[in-house]
Amino acid sequence: MNDIILTGDRPTGKLHIGHYFGSLKNRVKLQNEYETYIEVADIQALTDNFSNPEKVKNNVEQIVMDQLAVGIDPEKSTIFLQSMIPEIAELTVFYSNLVTIARLQRNPTVKTEISQKKELFGESVTYGFLGYPISQAADITAFNANIIPVGEDQLPLIEQCREIVRKFNSIYGETLREPQAYIGENKRIKGLDGNEKMGKSLGNAIYLSDPEEEITKKVMNALTDPARIKKDDYGNPDICMVSYYHKLFSNSEVEEICAECRAGKRGCVVCKKQLIKNIVKELLPIQEKRRYYEENPKLVKEILMEGTKKAQKEAANTIKKVKESMKLDYFLV
Ligand code: TRP
Repeated sequence: MNDIILTGDRPTGKLHIGHYFGSLKNRVKLQNEYETYIEVADIQALTDNFSNPEKVKNNVEQIVMDQLAVGIDPEKSTIFLQSMIPEIAELTVFYSNLVTIARLQRNPTVKTEISQKKELFGESVTYGFLGYPISQAADITAFNANIIPVGEDQLPLIEQCREIVRKFNSIYGETLREPQAYIGENKRIKGLDGNEKMGKSLGNAIYLSDPEEEITKKVMNALTDPARIKKDDYGNPDICMVSYYHKLFSNSEVEEICAECRAGKRGCVVCKKQLIKNIVKELLPIQEKRRYYEENPKLVKEILMEGTKKAQKEAANTIKKVKESMKLDYFLV
């Protein structure tokens, strides 16, 4: 059987450089080696944005444009929309018999997210949110995917999917393929404020589509060594977010930058300006490509529609097999 990759993004905002270094670059590489599916997970996005459907809808095309801009090639990767694949919803219902409520409540990813969403859920979480790992297992198995490139925070979800697959196969017979998480070169990028995570909701992100003025504003406010007040104070680049980003964007210049900082021979403003220049340079080709798609929204729609059509065929195959195994194959010829 061929290796098949599946990944997904919740369309709740544009993608940022955390996504870029954390997963997008990796995807662009992997699409050359494996059959690849990229899901725009709009139904999953609704699990914690159910009262904001406009937000989810408006971000669908933004996410697709970001993917295309970084080099996802629709000839190699199938980009599709979750809500247009009803088989995923069907599988979710079938799998929900195989998972206990206690097991969902113990899922570390779900647990963390619930505690972060107290404002939304109060003391009582919705059935839909608690159950999203089941729906994610449906995303994966609908396409017979076996390699799932994700960040570490997603590992408990993949583990839960593996359990569902094993349970399904043990009850209904060998039908589904057990997937594996692929961590690869994914790394988590810290925020401009030094937070361990760069996030839309944390306000510490540089977006792939940010114009130069925006990047300048953000970098100028980035956290630097707080003990360093004057230019000739000895700096500590190990606790400075500007040097952290230089390591991502300024390759050959990094050593000199850090040495000068330690020796008190470079001011933070100059250092930030150099970083801004390098970020702008790296994002330029991405932004040019993005602009092309922004000017051709019909093309973006077509790419998503074509990908979705292809995904629908695959999911239809899977649901047929699943229904046969579960003795739900009524009226099929
Ligand atoms: N939960 C993932 C995230 O928040 C998005 C996602 C949805 C996903 N479906 C998936 C990831 C299937 C991997 C496989 O980033």
